[in-house]
Amino acid sequence: MTTKDKIKNLSEIGLFEGIPEEQIEKIFKVVKKGTVPAYTTIFRQNEPGNKFFVIISGKVRVFRINTKGVETELAILRQGEYFGEMALLTDEPRSASVETLEETQLLVLTKNQLDQILKIIPNISLTFVKQMANRLVKEEKRIEMDQEMKDFLLDMI
Ligand code: CMP
Repeated sequence: MTTKDKIKNLSEIGLFEGIPEEQIEKIFKVVKKGTVPAYTTIFRQNEPGNKFFVIISGKVRVFRINTKGVETELAILRQGEYFGEMALLTDEPRSASVETLEETQLLVLTKNQLDQILKIIPNISLTFVKQMANRLVKEEKRIEMDQEMKDFLLDMI
């Protein structure tokens, strides 16, 4: 893939909207691209993480397995969406596992590359914060619903 193609891909991705082309060119000369076959684990929850991924094409599934072995699907992510930012921003292990649902093309950024981009385009940090806040609200709703279901079942006993 040529740098020009990479830039074209990136400027079409919402996260990188509004970045001048020469800036994208500078940063993304070194960005790697990879193709992952369908049903392949990209990383597992609790692993240390040092990469950030942007989906150029394809589809991935984000899921978590709790201590009792029960799996919860958190999201299906598609073209233009991204994942893997949380471990990089928090220095915590991966919060969830990610696997491909079909052949998926990814841009793979190192922590250094992401740090550089965040310095140049502070708006991306805002996008991350907003998305994390949205996920938190969804998670709280899920916990609330679980509790309501538990209460309902207890009432029936
Ligand atoms: P990270 O913790 O590095 O690795 C797992 C990734 O899954 C995480 O970053 C986010 O990018 C993504 N992720 C975590 N929780 C959710 C969620 N509730 N919905 C969508 N994506 C998530």
